[in-house]
Amino acid sequence: MSTADARSSILANLNSRFSVGAKHLAEPAPSPQDLQGMAQAALRAPDHAGLVPFRFAIVRGAARERLADLFEQAAVQAGKTADEAVLDRRRALEPPLLVAVIARIDTGHPVASVHEQWMTVGGALTNFLNAAHALGYAGKMLSGAKVRAAPIVAAFCGPGESLVGWVVMGTARKIGTPKFQKPGPDEVLRDW
Ligand SMILES: Cc1cc2nc3c(=O)[nH]c(=O)nc-3n(C[C@H](O)[C@H](O)[C@H](O)COP(=O)(O)O)c2cc1C
Repeated sequence: MSTADARSSILANLNSRFSVGAKHLAEPAPSPQDLQGMAQAALRAPDHAGLVPFRFAIVRGAARERLADLFEQAAVQAGKTADEAVLDRRRALEPPLLVAVIARIDTGHPVASVHEQWMTVGGALTNFLNAAHALGYAGKMLSGAKVRAAPIVAAFCGPGESLVGWVVMGTARKIGTPKFQKPGPDEVLRDW
């Protein structure tokens, strides 16, 4: 493949990513080596002062049962019915793999402001998802009230950290379509 072809195929790949929810995901999930590549891509996000204000926690195998227990506990604490708690429990077991996204924002940093650090977290997430897509996987970033449930936060976060949510990951069962229609590039790219 020529360099020009390789470049245009990278761009075509980036432009073809969209989120795929847990019920449309099946095995295989990204391997440990794939996850390393995805984390490397996340680390290429623009990062003022090089703070790396994020980390990922892989929830796989038996850890999904532990997360299911926490989801169920949080649902009960939030006043949900027993049936709803079982549904929430399933949210940890349905996807082949989950990756928690944890932000670690230095609120007093003299150079990189809080919003700049959050931009880096978003860039890291996007690169992580794009890398997964390039490797043939699919997934979706999810959050919800659970990211504020004290037992779940305590299980994932240390001091000064925030739980952004979970990326559910696997292989798409079939080729779907994006949830949202997006405008053409002219909508967001104009001369000033
Ligand atoms: C930080 C973050 C949290 C999100 N939380 C949820 C969520 O809890 N539930 C949901 O349906 N979508 C959530 N989304 C949106 C989806 O991940 C996804 O981006 C959206 O469905 C649009 O799909 P697309 O990625 O194909 O454009 C979240 C996105 C981000 C960036």
